[in-house]
Amino acid sequence: TRNVIIDCDPGIDDSLALLLALKSPDLNVVGITTVCGNVPPEIGAQNALKVLALADRLDIPVYVGANRPLRVPYTSAQDTHGDDGLGNSEWPAVTKVGPAKGAVNFIVETLTAEPQTSILALGPLTNIAEALNRDVSLFEQVDQFTLMGGSYKSHGNCSPVAEYNFWCDPDAAAQVFAKLPVPIQMVGLDVTREIVLTPSLLAYMQDVNPELGAFIKKITQFYFDFHWQQERVIGCVINDPLAVAVMSQPDLLSGFGAYTTVVTDGVARGQSIVDDHQFWQRPANTQVMTTVDVAGFWQLFLKRVLGATDP
Ligand code: BDR
Ligand code: CA
Repeated sequence: TRNVIIDCDPGIDDSLALLLALKSPDLNVVGITTVCGNVPPEIGAQNALKVLALADRLDIPVYVGANRPLRVPYTSAQDTHGDDGLGNSEWPAVTKVGPAKGAVNFIVETLTAEPQTSILALGPLTNIAEALNRDVSLFEQVDQFTLMGGSYKSHGNCSPVAEYNFWCDPDAAAQVFAKLPVPIQMVGLDVTREIVLTPSLLAYMQDVNPELGAFIKKITQFYFDFHWQQERVIGCVINDPLAVAVMSQPDLLSGFGAYTTVVTDGVARGQSIVDDHQFWQRPANTQVMTTVDVAGFWQLFLKRVLGATDP
């Protein structure tokens, strides 16, 4: 099993990603850290606790992190995720345990004690950049660094060119790509856009696992409505769970290595630039994921999260 810290901003799709991680026997979630993103980090932490309660894993600690990006003003995504970050589902709050403060300290302390801990970053990269800026060498032995963010050829989801996590804190993203001493596995919109939760998948989930199926239906309803109103799409794209899935099953995704950087200012703020033709002759710092086994992803998700026997 692999020890992993999940840094996230739950968030509807982050919550589904957390469920998948908690139900993956090959992943040992040592802690969850929250960052300002879809919602402020205190709300994200409460949502992480709700998911932990559902999975009966309240033994896992949750830490609240950065409440604003490194430099730019903070813009949440509560229009897409609901004011409560869980599609305005009014899911009951967890009161018997609370989150702790100090996400960045937790990351630093964990990597000091267990340098090979893997990192899964599902939100803006503010906490990660802050930890990196304390001591880059802490990250030298990280076993696997996977993030959901960016876009190679697939345009943006919050500007014509930018994906939300990179756009929300472009400086943090740029610093992580510039300084991280291990390769970044970038699970961007090129592959996550293929993961669409459809009404029939949702019905199947409710059938095989009424309890979790009800939770997933409740939190995704708002997302479904948003996709229909904005894009006339039936169903909703869920980005973050794919980044968890690939930690367990690397062959779900394939891509190529390239030097990648992130634009910090101007009209292209938050755009990921992938030097796929090596104009800059710089060593590859990123594995850019470009193709995904969609059926394989759903098989893993349905089996692990809902307990479907033969999806
Ligand atoms: C990313 O932004 C958030 O809205 C999602 O949780 C995901 O991490 C997709 O652009
Ligand atoms: Ca997220």
